[in-house]
Amino acid sequence: MKEKWWHDKTAYQIYPKSFKDGNGDGIGDLRGIIEKLDYLKELGIGILWISPVYQSPFVDQGYDISDYYAIDPAFGTMEDMDELLAEAKKRNIAVVMDLVVNHCSDRHEWFQKALKDPFGKYGQYFYIREGKNGNPPCNWRSYFGGSVWEKLPGYENLFYLHMFAKEQPDLNWENPELRQEIYKMIRWWLEKGVAGFRLDAIINIKKDLRFCDFPTDREDGMCAGSKMLEHAEGVHEFLQEMKEEAFAPYHAFTIGELFDYRQDELERYIGEEGCFESIFDFSPHVLGGCEQGWYNRRKVSPDEFRNAIFDSKRVSQDIGMMANIIENHDEPRGVSRYLPEGEVNETSKKMLAGISLMTFGLPFLYQGQEIGMTNKQFRSIQEVDDISTIDEYRVALDHGLDEEEALKAVAGMSRDNARTPMQWNGGTYAGFSEAAPWLMVNDNYPEINAEEQENRETSVLSFYKKLIALRTEPEYTETIVYGKQVPVLEGLTNFVGFYRQGTGKTLLVLANYQREKRTVCVEAEIKKVVLDNCNTDGDWKQITKTKDGSQISMEGYQFLILEVA
Ligand code: GLC
Ligand code: CA
Repeated sequence: MKEKWWHDKTAYQIYPKSFKDGNGDGIGDLRGIIEKLDYLKELGIGILWISPVYQSPFVDQGYDISDYYAIDPAFGTMEDMDELLAEAKKRNIAVVMDLVVNHCSDRHEWFQKALKDPFGKYGQYFYIREGKNGNPPCNWRSYFGGSVWEKLPGYENLFYLHMFAKEQPDLNWENPELRQEIYKMIRWWLEKGVAGFRLDAIINIKKDLRFCDFPTDREDGMCAGSKMLEHAEGVHEFLQEMKEEAFAPYHAFTIGELFDYRQDELERYIGEEGCFESIFDFSPHVLGGCEQGWYNRRKVSPDEFRNAIFDSKRVSQDIGMMANIIENHDEPRGVSRYLPEGEVNETSKKMLAGISLMTFGLPFLYQGQEIGMTNKQFRSIQEVDDISTIDEYRVALDHGLDEEEALKAVAGMSRDNARTPMQWNGGTYAGFSEAAPWLMVNDNYPEINAEEQENRETSVLSFYKKLIALRTEPEYTETIVYGKQVPVLEGLTNFVGFYRQGTGKTLLVLANYQREKRTVCVEAEIKKVVLDNCNTDGDWKQITKTKDGSQISMEGYQFLILEVA
């Protein structure tokens, strides 16, 4: 694999509204991020992805952009942004912005002009189509519920397309003029000094232009809009063009948010000539899903979690480097989701951290993950802000669940689990703000907060710091960054084991993903305990030499990184 500057980094995602409030209005902002750069540096972060801070009416929390060239006043000013870039640079942290170009906000001037004259220049910036006698052109459901088609005000039979909320009209990538506008904007930000972009919902930019019906998959008589992706051909042409015209001249770092792509096309995304540098590995996150809705989801078992990661690495590690996450702003907290109920504690959280950071790929942390933040307990749907949860709640009610059941069914998947304010300390509003935050703080902030963990050697935060530091530790960096990942003891239940084989050094990673102790045997001689989440670093009592290798007895949820002789 050709070495890239970002390969040995650890990345961190900030959801700005909930990270740190710098001016006491209850909303996180750019000054808040600047304040916390030293904290991130101390953690070992080299890449910072900041979710959208552009001007927005916040129908989808900033993923509906009304001006790509402006910072929303809720977050600060362009001067704040420039300062953030400069301060990050001083600390050798590369800043990656969110690029949301599948759609814009209905308040964007392009759409406002299209509304005035759907047949003029700006009408061509969107997908405006005739309906079927006043009904939508086809039966696709938007990602946030309801038809993807919305009537154009003032017209009986004209509709515009929105894959997400109706306030997020899709941009017409078939129009070269629109594409040039986007590339121009990307170059403008790169000129400013951002290192690159995370590309939001990017596979959706290519549509199946037939706009025809597909078989219905829910009680509402529609079908998932994403179904069209199976028939949309040619997304790579757009992506390659964008790479050549906008990213490549600046050597920009690009990471795609890509669901529903075809496995055999991975090379075209992250291979040597691929259109992105990396994409997120969502393989564990799509598990347990169900076409009917969140109410029908099921909990993912440790084995399923392991198998998903292993399968994905088997396919991808010779092609390129994907990014590993356990959570982000669209997903529940990883520890609440992937650890068995009732077993979420510091030891098991560290184990999950270890698996994620030692797996082949670029580690990406989401704010609060490093202190082991958990899902929130929602007492009523009124406490929920997330547009997507509210829709799924309605779906559950329509299906026949009562209010309590519906809330229970969707709470675990709610995007708001990850969007509660960052827990900085045990004081008022968890030290996030002096004013009541826009979204309620998780009740557990007196126990789970950064300040308490910062100087405690056994904390989740301290463990993350050690894991992150290992990635650039001269002795291990080549093995951890590039070493081939080879599964071991795959037949065991509730267990994750793999080798990372570097040139000249091999590490063995073992995780006992259950409460019960167990003893395992491997065909390897152990030279050293590199890291252990059970605070027995360097203690050899657990490891005995056998005639063909080693026998290792492990505590419940123990996680070990061992150096193989
Ligand atoms: C992506 C974002 C999500 C947003 C959606 C529409 O999936 O991560 O937060 O709602 O795109 O922009
Ligand atoms: Ca603020």
